Amino acid sequence: MSSAHYLKKMGGEEEQMDVDHQHHAHVQAKKKEPWVDKYRPKKVSDVAYQTEVVSALEKAMETHNLPHMLFYGPPGTGKTTCALAICKQLYGPELGKKRVLELNASDERGISVVRGKIKSFASTTVGEGVPGYPCPPYKILILDEADSMTNDAQSALRRMMETYSRVTRFFILCNYVSKIIDPISSRCAKFRFKSLDGGTMHERINFIAKGENLQLAEGTLQALEHVSAGDMRKAITLLQSAASLFGSELTGDRIREVAGVIPDEKIEELLQLCVAGDSQKSQALAEDILKDGFPCLQILEQFGYYLADSDLLEDEMKAEICLKLGEVEKKLVDGADEWLQLSHCISIATIVCSTKPEK
Ligand SMILES: Nc1ncnc2c1ncn2[C@@H]1O[C@H](COP(=O)(O)OP(=O)(O)O)[C@@H](O)[C@H]1O
Ligand SMILES: [Mg+2]
Repeated sequence: MSSAHYLKKMGGEEEQMDVDHQHHAHVQAKKKEPWVDKYRPKKVSDVAYQTEVVSALEKAMETHNLPHMLFYGPPGTGKTTCALAICKQLYGPELGKKRVLELNASDERGISVVRGKIKSFASTTVGEGVPGYPCPPYKILILDEADSMTNDAQSALRRMMETYSRVTRFFILCNYVSKIIDPISSRCAKFRFKSLDGGTMHERINFIAKGENLQLAEGTLQALEHVSAGDMRKAITLLQSAASLFGSELTGDRIREVAGVIPDEKIEELLQLCVAGDSQKSQALAEDILKDGFPCLQILEQFGYYLADSDLLEDEMKAEICLKLGEVEKKLVDGADEWLQLSHCISIATIVCSTKPEK
């Protein structure tokens, strides 16, 4: 093959590859659409488990005259979903773009933004409605994850709520209602969202698994429920990560692996070494787990749960170790060295566990 021929051939192949690549990228993008968005309920009535909230919201929507609202509760329980669904039901997809402004924690929401962007949205009057949707004569401003706003920004916001409530409704979403200043929360109808229970999570995950053609082996649902603790977003994200890593056949172990959970056997072995009073081996194992890449906080958290359930120890010993775990957690959050803190905890646990209490 002459070199010119060779080059030409290469060029042709490259072109072909490019087209393939684009097609591939397109397919990939479709595949990669986060399932949390793909499977977000579109109507308020489709939001599971929050029955009281859903029925109160539906009643309020019948009148078309909504109050300012405060949604609070743990992550992944349907707050953002409800807020978006209300907007969709009131305005439809087209008008929604004009009438709704959604700001979340990744948007800057300091006092200058409240005075600028939020004010200009909140203060402008509304135009015509569109046929087929109720289109009440106000706009909706969604402030997602509002607990990260400073008190100053919240105070500015509160003045805006007073001034512009004729043309704008505010939906304030947060995890901790205590972080929202009183003058705001007292102006809102409050809705508390609860952590989802196991049954609801299983149902929802089975629904998604069906839509994505996943085979969930026995124990997969339980693993998801356990590691996500009522946070539906976490459960769906884990499911998607596991599926993109392992393909469509999933098991509890595969879920635990993507969730970064330490295998139970390791934790059990660690506790047994502590009880045996073998300081050298318990330290070595703890170091191994840390070197496997698990964060110290994760090790201590699982160790704590495991310990609390164990029959190997007296209650007083458990209590003493748990107190230590709590102290160390605070230090870690403040930036202490992972290995030193872990080593410290395991030493204490080894001493406490191996000392027989005086009867
Ligand atoms: N009550 C629920 N019913 C059905 N799906 C839910 C529920 N809560 C959360 N989800 C799912 O979890 C994901 C995150 O929910 P989201 O409403 O964003 O949570 P947050 O309460 O943190 O705002 C969404 O994709 C949604 O599909
Ligand atoms: Mg949210």
